[in-house]
Amino acid sequence: MAQSSRAGFRKKLLKKVTARSAAKHVARRLFFPRNWLPLLRCLRRRKGPGGKSGDDAQLKLYGQLLPGGFLNYGYSENPALPPEQLSLDAIQRAQVRYGERLVDLVLNKDDGVLDAGCGMGGLIGLLLRRGLRPTALTPNRTQIRRVRADFPDVPMIEGKLEHLPVEKFRASFGTVITSESFQYVNLQQGLAVIEAVLKPGGRWILCDYFRTGTTTRQSGHTWDDFTAALAQRGWKIISQQDITANVLPTIAFVHMCGNRFGMPVAQFVTERLERKQPALHFLAQDVLGELRTQLQEHLDVVDPAIFAREKKYLTLVMERG
Ligand SMILES: C[S@@+](CC[C@H](N)C(=O)[O-])C[C@H]1O[C@@H](n2cnc3c(N)ncnc32)[C@H](O)[C@@H]1O
Repeated sequence: MAQSSRAGFRKKLLKKVTARSAAKHVARRLFFPRNWLPLLRCLRRRKGPGGKSGDDAQLKLYGQLLPGGFLNYGYSENPALPPEQLSLDAIQRAQVRYGERLVDLVLNKDDGVLDAGCGMGGLIGLLLRRGLRPTALTPNRTQIRRVRADFPDVPMIEGKLEHLPVEKFRASFGTVITSESFQYVNLQQGLAVIEAVLKPGGRWILCDYFRTGTTTRQSGHTWDDFTAALAQRGWKIISQQDITANVLPTIAFVHMCGNRFGMPVAQFVTERLERKQPALHFLAQDVLGELRTQLQEHLDVVDPAIFAREKKYLTLVMERG
């Protein structure tokens, strides 16, 4: 498109979204009673049917940014690598390495492996390549569609681990793997289900982070609660490896992208709106402020210094005594 016609197109586009037209569209929606019921339904449905895990937009976004089939932080062999020298390709390789390390821990090659919280199916592919028999489980509709399409012969359990029909799957698996997924699972309910579906002598391989100190961020089980629940239910930790340093490069990379691109672009869009459409900017000021706060909160979650201070990322192998 030539520069003058591109400028004309942009002008036309901006003209269409004036403060008055935006307010008119919203008022029209609110005015007609036929819209009240759908609006009420939307308000009730804010988290979407099935809750956060049913269609998590954040995990979907990660899946689009890193299409290698994994949604975890990956295992970097070189923890000292600064984020400026990392690439999306290197992160995808680290995610495959993370998966391979977990498959290496599967000793029972004869019985099935439950990949609980299978994400986009990266680990399913690795398990199949090693001649193992995986079963996938996820509550997320996007992931269910993708895993079913990529691995049509792999059994799929749709839903949360806590809701798995235990009678149907009692003592069915030699191994359960929770790869960066147990943090989303209710602690007691999750343990009860894993105990029920594992064969006697079976092992649970977990890779995930735990909260170690006081923090306002709620993600991850606290390490003390987790180990107390394990002890109470007769679990033993067979091996434990702290891989916090190996996941930090990815976290630092995401943080750098947010700070270097996300924040400045948000600022640019706001300032441009203020200059080009002052009335619309005035009306949207509170919403924009709220969006900026949310972006900052998301950035704090991936601040490597905060993560290392408040959490530890572990690979655990567990069996019941
Ligand atoms: C960060 S992703 C990790 C995905 C994959 N295991 C990997 O390593 O790439 C977390 C996974 O846990 C799943 N999940 C969330 N809540 C869950 C629950 N209650 N039970 C089982 N899986 C759950 C998500 O849908 C997603 O598949």
